[in-house]
Amino acid sequence: MLRVGLTGSIGTGKSTVSQIFKKLGAYVIDADKVVHKLLKREDIKEKIREEFGDVFTEEGEVNRKKLAKIVFNDKEKKKKLEAILHPEVFKEIQKFFDEVEKKDPDAVAIAEIPLLIETGSYKNYDTVVVVYAPEELQIERLVRKGMDREEAIKRIKSQLPIDEKIKYADFVIYNTGNLQQLEKEVKDVFQRLKNISSKH
Ligand SMILES: Nc1ncnc2c1ncn2[C@@H]1O[C@H](COP(=O)(O)OP(=O)(O)O)[C@@H](O)[C@H]1O
Ligand SMILES: [Mg+2]
Repeated sequence: MLRVGLTGSIGTGKSTVSQIFKKLGAYVIDADKVVHKLLKREDIKEKIREEFGDVFTEEGEVNRKKLAKIVFNDKEKKKKLEAILHPEVFKEIQKFFDEVEKKDPDAVAIAEIPLLIETGSYKNYDTVVVVYAPEELQIERLVRKGMDREEAIKRIKSQLPIDEKIKYADFVIYNTGNLQQLEKEVKDVFQRLKNISSKH
């Protein structure tokens, strides 16, 4: 089995690429979705309450917007939240890899992780794939999705620049054309990952 870390910057097309990989036969897990699930776990909610106080909705769910606002403006708080979540995300991804490996030893197993490079966890992967789009296109896509332009720029600036990230990549997927072109590019990379996996 080949363990692939898939990253990029916000709006470069990671999730779109992941879905294409899945269609082609890869196994995929999305770290963002893992976080969503974790935030529903009682033990995690308890830790968040201890650290952040009342960041909950009336229904008792974590108010993610409220929490995001706090950590986006406070580095220490951000670290605290990461200390709660990251080890658990890591465990869940590990569990996913273990299950895939049992099922299909030749599999290409892909974890989509926005902060793969920033957190240093790229070191745990056999292969790193970075999805690239120029900043202007990232902004355009985020705005089309409903984010306002200022917010999009702020989010992009808060991450390691995409030009830095591609230095860590074994494969770069250039998502600068239409979806058809993207599919073609992903297919090509998938074939190569499959080849590596079967020799692994
Ligand atoms: N090649 C493309 N052509 C047109 N729209 C695209 C393309 N790639 C991504 N998108 C759109 O851009 C938005 C951001 O893509 P997404 O895959 O969600 O990015 P990420 O997961 O990196 O944040 C989505 O609405 C997606 O449908
Ligand atoms: Mg995504």
